[in-house]
Formats: sequence, structure tokens, C-alpha cells
Amino acid sequence: MISQGKQKLTKDIVAVILAAGEGKRMRSAQPKAVHEVCGEPLLFYPLAVCDELNIVERIVIVGHGAEQILARFPDINTVTQERLLGTADAVKTALSVIPEANKTILVLCADMPLLTAETVDSLIAAHELEAASATVLAADFIDPFGYGRLVRDADGRIISIVEERDATETQRAITEINTGAYCFNQNALRRALAEVNDDNDQNEYYLTDVIEVMSRNHQVVAAALCRNAQEAVGVNSRNQLAEVARLMQRRINDRLMESGVTLIDPDSAYIGPRVCIGRDTVIMPDVYLKGDIIIGERCAIGPAVRILDSMIGDDVKAEFAVIREVKTENNVSIGPFCSLRPGTYMSSSTKAGTFVEIKNSFLGEDSKVPHLSYIGDAKIGQRTNIGAGSITCNYDGIAKHETEIGDDAFIGSDTMLIAPLKVGNSAMTGAGSAISEDVPDGALGLERGEQKNVPDYIKKRRSKHDSNHKGGGRA
Ligand code: UD1
Ligand code: CA
Repeated sequence: MISQGKQKLTKDIVAVILAAGEGKRMRSAQPKAVHEVCGEPLLFYPLAVCDELNIVERIVIVGHGAEQILARFPDINTVTQERLLGTADAVKTALSVIPEANKTILVLCADMPLLTAETVDSLIAAHELEAASATVLAADFIDPFGYGRLVRDADGRIISIVEERDATETQRAITEINTGAYCFNQNALRRALAEVNDDNDQNEYYLTDVIEVMSRNHQVVAAALCRNAQEAVGVNSRNQLAEVARLMQRRINDRLMESGVTLIDPDSAYIGPRVCIGRDTVIMPDVYLKGDIIIGERCAIGPAVRILDSMIGDDVKAEFAVIREVKTENNVSIGPFCSLRPGTYMSSSTKAGTFVEIKNSFLGEDSKVPHLSYIGDAKIGQRTNIGAGSITCNYDGIAKHETEIGDDAFIGSDTMLIAPLKVGNSAMTGAGSAISEDVPDGALGLERGEQKNVPDYIKKRRSKHDSNHKGGGRA
């Protein structure tokens, strides 16, 4: 739980989120902050922590690939770090747009998505309690390789943070690491940053050096311990990305199971942090739920279902389906082998069955599209049945046109509905018809050649064949 009084604390805090780095070790054309963990970009996670702690003032430092970050997060408040001179320079850039009010600066990195709001809250609480100039979120790692180490004096006071590459053999043996999250007194931070130089192995301005400056100037430097060391794992490589995603997935899935959702195989349920699922819904193997999703109660989702940004009602069944930007009411049946594309609205007790694709269409209550159909740009009333193999021909090669079908209509199998077109209430179309003119209420629309039967055709054909091949061929 988040401690009491967070409202009081957080209004005096400005979060600075570092996301300008290239992420060299990712070997990517994309900036590290947009690489995804459980379907959300890395930068989503520190922003979610701020949401949870009600920290409304946030500045995201961007640089490398800034346009790609802004494309994913159009509403964030960013400051561009012109040259990537290091984490101290990044924070300095942020301070240039923060008025010199007496606010606490919370620094978070875009590359540690497992960090929880509870832990950040405890960091803020420790910072306040000690009235510190700086409070470092530390963690104890069995394998501290690659992280900055907290160097303490004989009395246990923190005197500096030393990066792996600048550390001595003895310092490398230290297991207490810097997670990269900190709280700073703003004035103390400004003064210390002025003294930071780039005299290190990477010739970068290290934010971690302000700790040494402050300690030298006899200011209070505190540490808060991140109790669950896992939260401090940073993403610097594709390997760490996969590892962090696995841990995040387990966390999300555990939370869902605790809230009353059944996961048949939690290891094959890929569910994002913005997915809400109702009680007694069963998630089967190979399910991918990404983005902003609400799924109701008692649904059966899977096997092999991919849902993006959708709202699914109660008692919905979906198997072997791709569902994107779709809304359904209750008691809807989807699949197997079905693609529901953006703008599909399925009212209650509707069905989109086997090998069915629906796009930008409304299906009224109790209507069914059971087999082998494409429905695009259509409005279908209630209790209407679309026969197998029927298609709305909504595209004439130049523009898209709409099809309107009333209530209680019956579209015969293999009807081509050539839009723009209206089929009335209780109207019917004959199987195999290519309907290009409106069908009035209660009428039958029929368009097909008359059938001709050739009597004894098979017998005649066989005797013709036999006389042509007399003597030769097979026995
Ligand atoms: C940093 C810390 C290290 C800590 C580790 C935790 C420093 C010098 N070191 O190292 O002590 O143990 O995080 O994961 O701070 N960034 C910018 N601008 C820059 C450089 C970096 O915005 O000029 C951003 C990056 O996008 C990233 C964050 O700062 O989000 C940290 O940078 P990174 O290069 O990953 O630092 P580490 O080497 O991991
Ligand atoms: Ca890092």
C-alpha cells in the first residue's frame, strides 16, 4: 500500500524522467524508451508511477529519437537535451525549465519499468524524513555488475557513487547499487551540478557525481533501500528487456489471478498493464492483450486470441481471433478464425463466426454473421442473419460505400451486397445474388440466371468418352 499523506507530499514534487539516451547496447534504430515491455513502451512505466502517486508535474528529457517518443506520447511535457553529455547534463536541462521554487526533484529513468509506486513513495518518505539534500534509491544485488556502487565511509555515510567502469577492484565488490532513482532538494542539486565535471572513463557528466559533491560539502545524503531488488533491474540490452518483460508479465498475471481471473497457463498469457478483466473470466493459452482493454465477467478468451484497445462485455466467447478497436456488449460469440477490425460494434447476443472479417460496422442485437463473410462499412439491424459466404462489396476501387440492412432480414448465402445499398426490414436476398439495388421492406431481392437441367447428361457424357477411346487407353 501507498503510505498515507501522499497527496500532501506529491504536490511539492517535480518528476524528471530521463529518456534521452540512445540505449547503445540495444542496437536499435529506435530510442530505448519506446521499446516495449508487456505491450507498453518503457517510458509508460515511470509515467504510470507518477500517475499512481499523483505527481502531476513531470518533465521528460528527450534527445535521441525524440520524434519517436513524442509520436507515442503526444501529451507529455518534454525538454530536449541537445547533446547527450550524460545524466547530470540531462537533469541540468530539466532544471532550466523548472522555476527555482522550493520543490523536491524526483529523478526516474525511463529504463527501469519494474520500479513500483510503493517503492518510489518510500524513497520520497525517506527523503522527507531525513530532510536530505539527496536520497538515493539503493538496492542490494547479488550480481552488481554494470551498476553504480554506493561507496560509504567507516561510519556508514555515503560518500560517493562510482560507476562500474571507473571503480577499483575493492569498489566492484560492493553489492549496494544505485538504482538510478533519486530525490533531491532542488537548491542543493543546482549548486552541486555546477561542480560536476566529465573527468571519467566515458567523459560524461554523471548525475551520480553530485553525491560526492554534496557529501564533501557536508550535506545530508541518504539512501532508501529498494526491498525487492528485482524492481531495480535496468533495461540496457535486449536480454534485459526480455528478462524484465517476463518479471512484469508475472506481476500483471498474479494481480489478475488475485482479482478472480483464471489463467489456464500464465506463461502463455501476454497481458498488458492497462488491461482490466472481470471476475470468473477464463484466459486460455496464447492470448495477447495489448493497450487499453476492458473485458467483462465470465468471458472465455482464447485459445489464440489477440485483442488491442477494445471493450468486451460480459459472457463473451472468443477463440482464434484478432480483435482490434472493437466494442462488444454481452453474450457475444467470436471466432474461430475471425478478424474484427477497428470500428466494429457488436450488440448483445451477436455472433461473428468462422472465417469472418468485420470492419467499421454495427451489428444490432441478436444478429449473426456465422461463416465466411466480409462485412465492411455496414449497419445491420436486429435479429438479422447473414448467410455463409456473403460479402459487402464496399469498395469500388475509388471510394468506400455503406451498406444498410434492416431488422429481421435474411441475407441468402453467397450474396454480394454491392454498396451503396439498403436492404429493408424483414427483407431477403436469394442465395448467390449480386444485389446492387435497394431491396424494400419485406421483399426478396434475387439476381441470378435461371437454372437449366440437361437430362441424362452424365450417361451421355460417359458413352461419348467411351466411343472416343475404343481399343486404346486403360483396361
Ligand atoms: C545509470 C547510473 C548508475 C546506475 C544505473 C541504474 C549514471 C552515471 N549512472 O547508469 O549509477 O546504477 O543507471 O540503471 O547516472 N540519459 C539521458 N541523457 C544522457 C545520458 C543518459 O537522458 O545524456 C538517460 C538514459 O536515457 C537512461 C538514463 O538516463 O534512461 C540512464 O542512462 P544509462 O546510460 O542507461 O545509465 P547507466 O549506465 O545504466
Ligand atoms: Ca540504465
